[in-house]
Order: sequence, then structure tokens, then C-alpha cells
Amino acid sequence: MAAKREITIGFFDSGTGGLSVLAEFLKHSDFARAIYLGDNENAPYGNRSRRELVSLARAGAERLAAAGADIVVFACGTISTNALEAVKTASDLPVFGVFPPAERCVLSGKRTAVFATPRTVQRLSGTGADVFALPDLAGEIERCAPHVEKVCVKKHLPQTAGDYGAVVLGCTHYALVAEQFAEIFPRAEIVWGGQDTLRAVNSFLNGVYGKKEGKDPLCGADYG
Ligand code: DGL
Repeated sequence: MAAKREITIGFFDSGTGGLSVLAEFLKHSDFARAIYLGDNENAPYGNRSRRELVSLARAGAERLAAAGADIVVFACGTISTNALEAVKTASDLPVFGVFPPAERCVLSGKRTAVFATPRTVQRLSGTGADVFALPDLAGEIERCAPHVEKVCVKKHLPQTAGDYGAVVLGCTHYALVAEQFAEIFPRAEIVWGGQDTLRAVNSFLNGVYGKKEGKDPLCGADYG
């Protein structure tokens, strides 16, 4: 197997939710090192103001840069939808985020529900999806982690949530309890943004370092 790319990716979230994103990268990418920063002290982020989110995201990116990150991934839907653009324009490092793929699901013709934090939901109007804010679910996941099987997703969902063809998990914490969403919505495809982020980062790396010979890096295949 050829050497992995000499790249350090820094992942940032309010807590443990971004581990779902890191797990995607560890399964499917070929970077050499990861740094993970969970801002437990200030979690949860989902009800914070945009001003606070920009400031926390900026501080997180700076800490990751100081720790040696070459690329920053905001592994948090709340930061990505509210603060990424502000941080990105002022950052020396490439910055990526995780976004709920709501429009893609709607355009595929599926009746789509998006579940996310209150602050993320405010950024999702006009997608054509039914959007639901879950103010306390990320906090409960955070308290239970790593024993996320103790979380009861159902008690956080509004009774109005109906039958959907696609359910978008707009918060990376929710990806840690995706199986429960699948049980609650048995006919729905359960979707979140982790794969899109991985694809964006890999395509950036291919542009900067050249595409490696061999299979698609997204498939996690060996090279050479
Ligand atoms: N995991 C984050 C997100 O995707 C943060 C949730 C929170 O801290 O409220 O939104």
C-alpha cells in the first residue's frame, strides 16, 4: 500500500457529535493524522447566537491550527450553517463544514424531513423540506456518550412528524443515533452530510496534491 497523504485534518465540534464525521474519514480517506477538538466546556451550541458561534468557531480553528492542522473540518451542522463563511474568509487554512443535504433529497422527489438544532433550522428555510428543531437532543446525546443507546430519540420528536421518504440528520450528534431514526422512520432513507464533506475534502486534496493512481479514494481502497 502506498503511503498516506502527509496531511493533518483538524475536526471541531461542540462535543462528541463530530466523531461521526471523523469516523467517516477514518473509514474512507487516506490522510495521515487527525486532531479532534470537542468544545465540551461550551456545549451544546444549538441555541447559541450567531455571534457566539462565529467566535467559538474561530477560536476552535485557531486551536487546531496551533496544534498542527493543515485543514479544518467543522464537524458540526450548527457551526457550518452559521459561522463557516465568516471564519473561512479570515482563515489561512482551508476550512470545510458539514451541511444537511436537504435540497438534494427534496429534488429527488422524496417527501423530506430535516431534524436539526434550533440555530441550524433557522438557516434552512426555503428548502422545501419539513424542518424540525430539536432543542435538547444533542445535549442528551452529549450527556450519554459514549453510551448513546441510552438516548431516547423518540421523546424529542414532535408528534406532527409524519411519514417521510427521506429524513435528514442536520446535526452531527444525530448521526450517532441514526439507527433509532431508522427505526422510527422505517420507510425513509436516513441521510446526513458526512459523506459530502468527505467528498469535498478529498476533491480539494486531489486538486492540491494530484489524484493518486488507483481506485477512488472515497472507496477507501488501497493504492498502488
Ligand atoms: N454537533 C453539532 C451540530 O451538528 C452541535 C450540536 C450542539 O452542540 O447543539 O449541530
